Amino acid sequence: MSEKPVVQLIDVKKSYGSQQVLKGVNLSIMEGKTTVIVGGSGQGKSQIIKHILGLVRPDSGKVLVYGKDISRAGKRELRAIRANFGVLFQNAALFDSMTVYDNVALPLRERTRLSEAEIKKIVDRNLALMDIIGSDDKYPAQISGGMRKRVGLARALVLEPRIIFFDEPTTGLDVAKSNEIYRVFFRTQTQLKYTAVIVSHDVPKIFKLADYVALLHNGVIHSCITPEEFQLSDDPVIREFVETTMGQLYSSEMEGEL
Ligand SMILES: Nc1ncnc2c1ncn2[C@@H]1O[C@H](COP(=O)(O)OP(=O)(O)O)[C@@H](O)[C@H]1O
Ligand SMILES: [Mg+2]
Repeated sequence: MSEKPVVQLIDVKKSYGSQQVLKGVNLSIMEGKTTVIVGGSGQGKSQIIKHILGLVRPDSGKVLVYGKDISRAGKRELRAIRANFGVLFQNAALFDSMTVYDNVALPLRERTRLSEAEIKKIVDRNLALMDIIGSDDKYPAQISGGMRKRVGLARALVLEPRIIFFDEPTTGLDVAKSNEIYRVFFRTQTQLKYTAVIVSHDVPKIFKLADYVALLHNGVIHSCITPEEFQLSDDPVIREFVETTMGQLYSSEMEGEL
């Protein structure tokens, strides 16, 4: 089966003042696959996500989402394209004054005309998928960090997005909690078959989820290859990344299976 790109960045350039962050980024995100973007801190990984979401416009180049250039889309078109997206950023950004249930129900209440009974079915199913049972009436402050992330994930998935973006989704969690999040990703991706774009520093763990690893280096995508190819590569830039950023690869693998 041939793979189809659902997102394409073509020679995307972006500067802030005298700093050129993206120097001609070329990247294709394949349908139904999980692409993990890696690279040093401050290299522009979040910038890539923001360009795809249409939150930032490139100085030049194209950002195609389902063939449409999101960087040139008007308001209405932008809204239509974004309806395909589910987003989970670092701080799950739940509403503190709303219960777990209401947080997850929110997108359905705002964006659909479903009845409360229909909404309840969907919310219950999503909470069960994330192993959140019996906490519907709790407030974000009353649940653990790991559970908050899972509620954030449930909310990101509740409208059944075709593409989901996770920008450093496990920041602030300990090893066990972040493993748990990756386990939930893996299970939901297998069941729901969405396309995923993940920015993560948890490189060894994320390798088990990734279909492709895209390395951002000096403002360009240096390579976008399978995790196996990445780990076996003798390309000097990849080797350096592996050795500096993934020094903990082996010790971390010993922490146990995902
Ligand atoms: N709004 C902005 N104004 C100025 N510089 C920015 C802005 N957004 C991002 N940058 C710069 O772009 C670079 C890449 O940022 P970012 O994409 O957040 O990196 P990463 O996610 O890889 O850590 C950083 O050096 C950052 O300072
Ligand atoms: Mg970032």
